[in-house]
Amino acid sequence: MCGIFAVVNDKHNSSAQTVLEGLKKLEYRGYDSWGIAMKPKGGQVLQVEKHIGKIGQASTSLPAGSIAIGHTRWATHGGVTDTNAHPHLDCTKQIAVLHNGIVENYQELKAKLLTQGHVFISETDTEVIAHLIEEKQKTAKIETAVFETFKELAGSNAIAVLDSKTESVIACRNGSPLVVGMGKDDYYLASDVPAFLKFTNAVHFLLDGEAVILTKTGVSLHDVETHEKKNLVTQHLDWKVEDAEKGGFPHFLLKEIMEQKKTIPKTSQINGEELKKVADKIKIHKKVVMVACGTAFYCALAAKYFFAQSGVQAQTYPAYEFLPFAKFCDKDTVFIAISQSGETADTLIAARNAKKAGAYVVAVINARGSTLERLADSTLLVGAGPEIAVVSTKAFTSQLATLYLLAHDVGGNIVTAQKNLKHLGQVLEGWLNQTLLDKVIALAKNILSHEDMYLIGKHLNYPSTLEFALKIKEASYIHAEPFAAGELKHGVISLIQKGTICFVLAGNDEVKNEVLSSAAELRARGGYIIGIAPFQATEFDTTIQTPDVGDLTLFPNVIVGQLLGYFLGVGRGTDPDKPRNLAKSVTVK
Ligand code: F6R
Repeated sequence: MCGIFAVVNDKHNSSAQTVLEGLKKLEYRGYDSWGIAMKPKGGQVLQVEKHIGKIGQASTSLPAGSIAIGHTRWATHGGVTDTNAHPHLDCTKQIAVLHNGIVENYQELKAKLLTQGHVFISETDTEVIAHLIEEKQKTAKIETAVFETFKELAGSNAIAVLDSKTESVIACRNGSPLVVGMGKDDYYLASDVPAFLKFTNAVHFLLDGEAVILTKTGVSLHDVETHEKKNLVTQHLDWKVEDAEKGGFPHFLLKEIMEQKKTIPKTSQINGEELKKVADKIKIHKKVVMVACGTAFYCALAAKYFFAQSGVQAQTYPAYEFLPFAKFCDKDTVFIAISQSGETADTLIAARNAKKAGAYVVAVINARGSTLERLADSTLLVGAGPEIAVVSTKAFTSQLATLYLLAHDVGGNIVTAQKNLKHLGQVLEGWLNQTLLDKVIALAKNILSHEDMYLIGKHLNYPSTLEFALKIKEASYIHAEPFAAGELKHGVISLIQKGTICFVLAGNDEVKNEVLSSAAELRARGGYIIGIAPFQATEFDTTIQTPDVGDLTLFPNVIVGQLLGYFLGVGRGTDPDKPRNLAKSVTVK
């Protein structure tokens, strides 16, 4: 995954600066290097600036001009070097290309271009695109050359091309997201809305197979296959500029954790009719399959318990393990794909296969205009707002709250479920505050030097244990291994010795005593037991007490894990917003 951003007819004739600022908003999409290409006022040759490393504090010395494109990279082909950073130029330096995706047939295309005399500078798959356009442009208009080049690229890709001669930006989409922003006389193209939200909230999300041409007189939409013009319809998003800013917090991650006071209860005010529609389908068929990756998969695992409470036996699969089971989907299956971005390649592949088998596909997503949204028969938008930190927090809890509502709608208890979520919101208002942060900071300081931690939980607090552990791993790089409490005796307990950090996640539920017995077993082996629960217990050496909100106690329990991951990360000097090696959405298999 990478970030693409372009501006045409920049208001202040400072297109490079505009692109740099926009790229900073997209840094979560890739942060190993960045680059900008622009056409200087009065000049013919494109000017390019590229650097490895994060873009956060960067500035640019590129000159004045009204058109520029830029990119934040998450390397796939070719190491992290200035040369491999995008944009990539053709031999004439009149065409600059940005790319998100993988050109699967680039070796073959490159071999042919080499025989035609093209000179390659980088090790990337992207550079073939610039030379291929250059070759085709010898006998065709630039837009034709771009469209025809795009058709030759195998794989899931989005490209944006700056053409110096026509002063236009031409972009095509197949798989990787692209969105156009329509200002008054200024036009934007980006991988995600926050890049240009400061200038406009009027947007058009490109579909696969669509292309756009941005010039200073406007934007036109085309079909890549036929080149024909299409009607460009814009929609106005209700996102505010502040949604994509840190709002006084040191990191997006902390801001997004704290926002959950509002985002969780919000889920009970949206999706009313769509929720009912999906619930009615489930009531008829009772065959539910949930698929997702990473955090979103843990959301599926937790939702499975909520469905069970409503008498529905839901199946869950990590999307990348789903294919052998796709054959069991049929027209009676309600297939729920959960994804923050709606662009995760494995989740999309699973959803396409389920659809092919006749399933009714429901997308539970946060980002707008995604591929998953398009391919789904029904969409539940969870409304958490832009999630910028790479580590997912508020999207997870909004997805889970949405599935809690869905499960209870199926069980005929939607009104109670809505009330419970509203109550949870009120409880979080009082609990998720500085006093809690101080407690978590004190705990983080206490355990900061440990390299291994173990966690246990049971039933609803088993998936919350998985998610709690993932937050610690991602944000602080500490090895945190979660287990179902029931698994301990079957081998895992051999890992526990004097001083081993053990978290025990629990609720005031029917398995509380069993979990406390497991905690006692850990303690008897010398483990240092940290209770994350709505009660104190003699089995715990220390406790972060969470509010007792019945079945919803897993929400505050997970929030403690989010905060602990964050503060452990800060304490160990990581960048909690952009953990090493990770990208916000994984658009490649
Ligand atoms: C963890 C995290 C990842 C994502 C996973 C799926 O904090 O962010 O595990 O949950 O890559 O991404 P989406 O939800 O966009 O499909």
